[in-house]
Amino acid sequence: MKTIDELLAEGVTGKRVFVRADLNVPLSGTTITDDGRIRAVQPTVEKLAAAGARVVVASHLGRPKGAPDPAFSLAPAAARLGELIGADVAFATDTVGESARATVAALTDGRVAVIENLRFNPGETSKDDAERGAFADQLAELADVYVGDGFGAVHRKHASVFDLPARLPHAAGDLIATEVGVLKKLTENVERPYAVVLGGSKVSDKLGVIDHLLERADRILIGGGMAYTFLKAQGHEVGSSLLQEDQIPAVLEYLKRAEDKGVEFVLPVDVVVSEQFPDLKTKTPTEHRTVPADAIPAGFMGLDNGPETNKLYASKLADAVTVFWNGPMGVFEHPDYAEGTRAVAQALVDSEGFSVVGGGDSAAAVRILGFDENAFGHISTGGGASLEYLEGKTLPGLAALED
Ligand code: 3PG
Repeated sequence: MKTIDELLAEGVTGKRVFVRADLNVPLSGTTITDDGRIRAVQPTVEKLAAAGARVVVASHLGRPKGAPDPAFSLAPAAARLGELIGADVAFATDTVGESARATVAALTDGRVAVIENLRFNPGETSKDDAERGAFADQLAELADVYVGDGFGAVHRKHASVFDLPARLPHAAGDLIATEVGVLKKLTENVERPYAVVLGGSKVSDKLGVIDHLLERADRILIGGGMAYTFLKAQGHEVGSSLLQEDQIPAVLEYLKRAEDKGVEFVLPVDVVVSEQFPDLKTKTPTEHRTVPADAIPAGFMGLDNGPETNKLYASKLADAVTVFWNGPMGVFEHPDYAEGTRAVAQALVDSEGFSVVGGGDSAAAVRILGFDENAFGHISTGGGASLEYLEGKTLPGLAALED
């Protein structure tokens, strides 16, 4: 993989450099609630601009349906990038149309433009190679060189991630280089004890990574909505909690394999429950209580780890030398259900081990809960991407940068 410094050494002055970033930031209306992903690509953009490149930044945001949708516009992200780099950032209101072509043509050396959400064009995510290729051909006309730096999207076989680098001289940006370096530490000669904390809503999203980690981790701590499928598999009633009944056989197999292999599988011992899902907009206080994890009353749903679980998880993380964490422990967006996520974040801050926070949601959670990012070993910008890397899968966006 060519590095950005090698690219700069070849000279980029006056060249149009297409930077595939991941500016998929959480928005409330047009307000960015966590700008971590924009800040993460800022050094690459600044380096290229300082070297005199004409920088064309592109990204997806959310999952629009292959057509323009103002709710998913990248305009707020472009404005924020401009604030961060302290320079005007031009914005093209389409991806490969008149606006994009004119905006790029008007760029002068060292200036930056952002083009509109790539997923406004159906070719970006198409499963049809020819359709994706045709879109990549149009994108290629906007640039002379490609820099892949959207780590959060490298697991997607999308036109701008996979097909475009095959059409242009290419290099990996600093963010991708850093992310891959950190993930290597979690897959090659990992320092032990190695603890993994997995949360989030769906077990089905985490099956591949659990399967892989059962061969590698010493401890696996489960939280969030997915914990209730594990509790149910163990024969406990889970009330109206999130449940994936169809995953119970897989979960039982994992619990058995963990036992056979001596991998410690840790599940919540108490949980915070309520009869209703909280309103995340108004954050109105809710009726809730803590119950043992094996005694969730009918009609109540588990929404966070309880205080005994928080103590237990902190103790399991205290002596870990390597920790990977993906997925919140509860509905952290509401103050009544944020303690489980906060407790895991605090345990990582307190630990002397190397901690990696992987995932859009958990990364956003630590920042939204007010933790200092520097207190963690690394906060990844990739959720699905870091999980698929840990699963040992070939990631299209990395493979495309290899040669
Ligand atoms: C993410 O948020 O994990 C990345 O931006 C990829 O987004 P996607 O899951 O919509 O492809």
